[in-house]
Amino acid sequence: MNNKEQRDKLLSGVNTLAIVCNQWGDTGKGKFVDYFADWADIIARGTGGANAGHTIRIKDQEYIFHLVPSGILYDKIGKINIIGSGVAFDPNIIAEELEILKKEGLSFDNLLFSRNALLVLPQHLVMDRVKEINTEGKIGTTGRGIGPVYTDHYARIGLTVNDLLNMKNFKEKLKRNLSDKVKLLKLIDINIVKEIMNHPHIGSGRFFDEKEIFNIEEIEKAYREFAEIFKKNIADTESIIRNNIGKKKILLEGAQGNLLSIDIGTYPFVTSSDCSVTGLAKGCGLKETDIDLTLGIVKAPYMTRVGEGPFPTELGGLESAKWCGTKGVNKTLEKEKYSDATVNDANEFNQGIGVRFAGYEYGATTGRPRRTGWLDLPLLKYSTIFSGPHTILTKIDVMDKCEKIKICHAYEYTGENYQIGEKTLKKGDLIETAIPDKEVISACKPLYTEFDGWLSDITQTTSYDSLPQNLIKILDFIKSKTGIVIDIVSVGPDRDQTIINI
Ligand code: GDP
Ligand code: IMO
Ligand code: MG
Repeated sequence: MNNKEQRDKLLSGVNTLAIVCNQWGDTGKGKFVDYFADWADIIARGTGGANAGHTIRIKDQEYIFHLVPSGILYDKIGKINIIGSGVAFDPNIIAEELEILKKEGLSFDNLLFSRNALLVLPQHLVMDRVKEINTEGKIGTTGRGIGPVYTDHYARIGLTVNDLLNMKNFKEKLKRNLSDKVKLLKLIDINIVKEIMNHPHIGSGRFFDEKEIFNIEEIEKAYREFAEIFKKNIADTESIIRNNIGKKKILLEGAQGNLLSIDIGTYPFVTSSDCSVTGLAKGCGLKETDIDLTLGIVKAPYMTRVGEGPFPTELGGLESAKWCGTKGVNKTLEKEKYSDATVNDANEFNQGIGVRFAGYEYGATTGRPRRTGWLDLPLLKYSTIFSGPHTILTKIDVMDKCEKIKICHAYEYTGENYQIGEKTLKKGDLIETAIPDKEVISACKPLYTEFDGWLSDITQTTSYDSLPQNLIKILDFIKSKTGIVIDIVSVGPDRDQTIINI
């Protein structure tokens, strides 16, 4: 059987497939949505917004999409790509991505936007960035306005994509949306706001007004222009998807990852949408039970996190967290300063940088270094409660040259007595399934099982059984500790570097 036949066997009986991430994002959702794109008739995003950065590599060409579904590059007659109602829709980013498609000679007639998707406006990006100025309470957001958009939705003052079709109502709603924000922004130094609004993502100063902070006329004008470009793409996408359940092949593309979900993630260091499979289904207009198969992606045997928040297995611990959160730290600087760092470095902080170099772990949205650490099974066990057992392991090839692999199989709790509901957590307690509470995770010492590395190039391997024995041992250990089923192993960024395990 060739790879496509194996894949089709894996998907036999499946009409609706969901791809989600079981960690803190950046696990390869883009690669896999693209990989399944020729199978699908409808591909839909349901959560998050332009905070996502999904990379697709086809031969030597790399594409990064923030909003449009990652299957867009696979042009198939009749295929529809959808941005669902749960998505924070930023017209500015969409306009940029449509330009990429145009350059590739792809039409975007088959790209539909839910009329109910949440509309991102300049003030959302401003509020997001103002809030992140203080180091206290900082989340390390992507600055794409995500928190404020979802906040407005729940505060019942949000706008939707449908408002682009009714510009009179748009203006009324815009004014209402701005009123409290302007009051708050007037309390801070106007120059700070001005500087933020000079950013190209916020119109390069176009929307700034010295007196009123926001120039409502300019915002209206810009969004009127967007409406002209997109109006034919706005639709009742929820009905389209629902009406095709069981009839067409539907692929739901997750964004972020379970551990970043507002509902089940490592709160408060999370994003503001529910990026679990439950949120994904809802954000496309479906029920979770409409999904036939959920594949949860897991980076292994290392993992990453961008932004603030506890990360028990982080290589270099707090030193790494601080370094990666320092403004101005990027790939160029690290290459200059730590050119010798490798995955085998005796110093853990340097080893973390070595892993970052080997895996090109720099944010696709912000360019920030992604914090690196060993695979954490207590967190994985927790995450699979929501995604189920079916798993795609990615980026294993990154550790081809690593001599000793460590897997965290449990934590030892090292904090003070802490009450979790009816249970008292005590110093020395063993935790095998993570408890996503900031106080608990911050006091969890990882316990490791160490393995010899496989020390060979796996990037051309095409079957599970021909993976090196030392790697198989590690995969068996992961399976036995978590109960996951490894359906796919990814050994490189390209479509054809994909092993189906059936
Ligand atoms: P996403 O946000 O989940 O779509 O992931 P990102 O695109 O942010 O980051 C994943 C990165 O890893 C991208 O640059 C992919 O091209 C790359 N990638 C995906 N799978 C593999 C793999 O198995 N091996 C290697 N070396 N790179 C991979
Ligand atoms: P993809 O889809 C990794 C993180 C940010 C920050 C937190 C809140 O590419 O996997 P936000 O801007 O959403 O308010 O930021 O969430 N974050 C991501 N980390 N991958 C992502 O998306 C992310 N989207 C948000 O770094 O810590
Ligand atoms: Mg990403």
